[in-house]
Amino acid sequence: MRDVKARIAYLPGDGVGPEVGAEALRALQAVGQHFGHTFDVEEASIGGAAIDAYGDPLPPATRAVAEHADAVLLGAVGGPRWSDPGAAVRPEQGLLELRRLLGTYANVRPLQLFDAGRAISPLRPERLVGVDFVVVRELTGGLYYGEKHRDRGSDGGETAWEVCTYTTAEIERVVRVAAQLARSRRQRLTSVDKANVLETSRLWREVTTRVVRDEFPDVVLDHVLVDACAMFLIREPARFDVIVTENLFGDILTDEASVIAGSIGLLPSASLGAERSGVARRAGLYEPIHGSAPDIAGQGRANPVGMILSVAMMLRASFELESEARSIEAAVRSTLGDGLCTPDVAATGEPACRTDEFGREVARRILQARP
Ligand code: IPM
Ligand code: MG
Repeated sequence: MRDVKARIAYLPGDGVGPEVGAEALRALQAVGQHFGHTFDVEEASIGGAAIDAYGDPLPPATRAVAEHADAVLLGAVGGPRWSDPGAAVRPEQGLLELRRLLGTYANVRPLQLFDAGRAISPLRPERLVGVDFVVVRELTGGLYYGEKHRDRGSDGGETAWEVCTYTTAEIERVVRVAAQLARSRRQRLTSVDKANVLETSRLWREVTTRVVRDEFPDVVLDHVLVDACAMFLIREPARFDVIVTENLFGDILTDEASVIAGSIGLLPSASLGAERSGVARRAGLYEPIHGSAPDIAGQGRANPVGMILSVAMMLRASFELESEARSIEAAVRSTLGDGLCTPDVAATGEPACRTDEFGREVARRILQARP
């Protein structure tokens, strides 16, 4: 067994970010202690917290910490304090700039069900049978990064526009990540677009078809329009294995998909960039898919599972520490299985635990696992 020594940038951000982040670090350090690895954690500020402190949602010091780290762990950004539509800087710009800086073009969002989530899912139990899919969302292109514009017209009203661009190379690389993932799973890939209306989607469909045909002949590809996909996710979620789609569609569909799991607080994500050498296999940014949940921030009510499972994704994707990743996943599963959960997951009238109680229990179980 090799002992890993890695530098982790920790960007807690806003709202519940610091609360769930503390539990993710607790799980990470438990893994380090139990398996003999060293994780040097360096904290830096991002989002609204960084706007307050430095007037910049991604200050130079944070960029430096993130760029020099082997992997980046992020809580959440945003909140009502910084969301005035007229604001010159916004917390979300820090996150988008960080994704661009690290080149993390493939955002992997797995949807696995826990019994605790199943019990509170709005979908009927029979629709949940066999549900296990992953959405690979393109993360550094499309409307999010297109040129934006706003001006006042002669009629007194305003005009706003933004540009959606995708290049062949941008589509190819994210499709390769998704097809590779499908290959390691049930060999089914669904590409989601709006090719009946959008030119970017027609290119997306052409490139996807070619890449899968030429490089992944063992993977079965189908194409689904995004509006139909929104419906199938609810009506027939078990039909999906790996979904690949562009930035905005992926953002929307993964929030929708999280409802199937019972709570968005349960879901992790990994944003991956190009392969590189060194201790970390590729640039990686790991964060729960939920937002900063300002309505419950500071109350110990936030669900740390999404962020703790993001640490497991980091150990697996950035450091190839498979047993370590599994030890976290098993600890989370057994903790939830024993009925411990935060209020978002507790059935009506059932008791719930605090964020840190849940995190401590997960860490305790990691430390007890057989190495
Ligand atoms: C997400 C979030 C972000 C996004 C926001 C906070 C900018 O919704 O990671 O899904 O839209 O990408
Ligand atoms: Mg989102």
